[in-house]
This record gives sequence, C-alpha cells and structure tokens, in this order.
Amino acid sequence: MSSLSPFLVHRPRRNRTDSWTRRLVAENRLGTDDLIWPLFVQDEMGTSDVASMPGVKRYGPDTLVDAVGEAVELGIPAVAIFPYNRDDSKTADCREAFNPDNLICSAARAIRKHHREIGLIGDVALDPYNSAGHDGIVRDGIILNDETVEVLCKQALAQVEAGCDFVGPSDMMDGRIGAIRTTLDEAGHEYAKIMAYSAKYASAFYGPFRDAVGAAGFLKGDKKSYQMDPANSDEALRMIEGDLEQGADMVMVKPGMPYLDIIQRVKETFRVPTMAYQVSGEFAMIKAASQNGWIDHDNAMMESLMAFKRAGTDGVLTYFAKDVARRLKQG
Ligand code: PBG
Repeated sequence: MSSLSPFLVHRPRRNRTDSWTRRLVAENRLGTDDLIWPLFVQDEMGTSDVASMPGVKRYGPDTLVDAVGEAVELGIPAVAIFPYNRDDSKTADCREAFNPDNLICSAARAIRKHHREIGLIGDVALDPYNSAGHDGIVRDGIILNDETVEVLCKQALAQVEAGCDFVGPSDMMDGRIGAIRTTLDEAGHEYAKIMAYSAKYASAFYGPFRDAVGAAGFLKGDKKSYQMDPANSDEALRMIEGDLEQGADMVMVKPGMPYLDIIQRVKETFRVPTMAYQVSGEFAMIKAASQNGWIDHDNAMMESLMAFKRAGTDGVLTYFAKDVARRLKQG
C-alpha cells in the first residue's frame, strides 16, 4: 500500500501531465522577436566556413543580401554585423575602422538597398582592424583609452551614415557611450540607437569568434585591463548604470549562459531593455557535444535560449538565431 495520503492536496504533476496544461502555465515564452543574428562579412565572393563554429559562415558581397533576406523572411528583428578583414588592412592606428567603404559600411549599404524591415547593428570596436589584435590602440604595451574613444566615435559615425540603425560598442573603453552619443547627435543622428556592451567579461568563451574575424593570430596577451573580471557582480551594475547615464538605449551582458545571474540582477535593478550575447564558445560547446552524440542539438539549443528569457533578457544575440526561428515557425 502507498504510504501517501489518498487525499494528497499538492500534486504538482497535475499541471505537467499534458502539453496543453504545460503551455497554459508556462511562465516564459521564447519568440522570434527575441532574436538578433550576428553575422560575419568578408570581401571575397561566396562564403567561407568558420572551423570552430560549425554551420557559421562569413558572407561575401554576392551572398550577404540573400542571407539577410532569409532572416527577414523568418521575422528576425535585427542582425549584428562583424567584419573579417584582410591581414594587410590591419594597422596600429586602426584607420580601416572608420573607412566609409569598409566591410561593415558596405554591407549595411548593400543590405539597406534590398531590405528595409530589419534592424542593422554595427559592431564598434577595433580588434578586427588592429595589428595588435586589441579592442583599443596600443602604445608601448598600454591600451590607450581616450585615443581609442576618438577612433570609436569616427567608426560609429561612419556606420550610422552607411545605414546602421544601431551601433554596438563592444570595446569596453571608459566613457565611450557618452562620447559616441555626442558625436552622433552633433551629426544629426539623434535617433541612431546605442546597444552598449556594458557588462562584458574577459572570457575564454570568445575563442571561436576571434577565429571568425581573423583576430586570433594578432592578439598578444589578454583583455583583462578593459574587460571585466569574471569574479565580479556589483561591478556589472555600476557599468550598466554608467552606460545608461551616458545615453545607452539598451544594455548587454556578455557572455550569456555562464552569467545568467548577472542578467537577472541587471533586469531587476534597472528594468531597462537588457540584451545578452550567447557567445561563440557557448555555441561551439553545444555544437561539439551534439556532433559527438552526447546531447540533442535542437533541444539543447531551445533550452539554452529559454534560460535567457527566464533570467529576464529581452533579446539574445545568438548564432542559432535562424535555426531557432525555424523551429518556432514549425511550432
Ligand atoms: C570584440 C568582440 C568579441 C566578441 C564580440 N566583439 C571578442 C572579444 O572581446 O575578444 C565575441 C563574440 C563571441 O564570442 O561570439 N570586439
């Protein structure tokens, strides 16, 4: 005989028995509107593969517009553009970053010509343009803050003038949000948005991305003098507060899954549009484990994104964006 009372009041499994009850009581929902697709552009025609990110491609001028067209068709609200620059375009002064015909600017113009109904985010940081591989100008082994911010402002302006709706400063220099805001406003771009990579940690999970943009071979040392220490949580709140005061329209926590506690604190504290970046290493882990048959790819992918929603994110930058959108479409 069962030792449970026949009149057990709480049977939490009742609400889990059928798919329709589970749907009815679900506390969070993931939708295509939550997705931002990060994409890599190259100047060579066609596409190239990123070995450490299975399924991710860099798109050339002839393939880019259709690739974005697919995202439009799926209903993805925005794409974030990252450049794969040739080795010989990388310099110590990073001047390619504000060349009005650089890869991000050309891509933005080409996409805009064909697709109006998708948000374009330009990545603002110097690492893909820098012969030193860092996000800032380096002199005598020091990352120079204020000189870097001047270049970032020119870079952001070039991207907006080429058609980017947002700029996404991912560099972690002090004071860059306010400086970029002022630059854009003075040029008459009061409605260009800033999605600030505010709480960006010095993370080992960015490895595959550095391959994707061709920065891995150039970087010496680490980024700990500007990106945050993974030990810190209060500091993330101070970073977010500072960026909001300087004019950020949306803030971001990066990486994503290992930092869900930060996302939750940020959302609860500030109640502002909060983005998260499921970074390249998080993507690569799910890909590698599923390729080995150790986890189920689609279930792990969908669960990882639901976790972001549960933590309080409004939007997630994810290399899975198109796959997730397709799954959601199938229902
Ligand atoms: C640097 C930048 C990085 C990423 C986006 N912008 C890497 C870094 O800080 O070294 C990482 C994104 C990813 O790993 O998917 N400007």
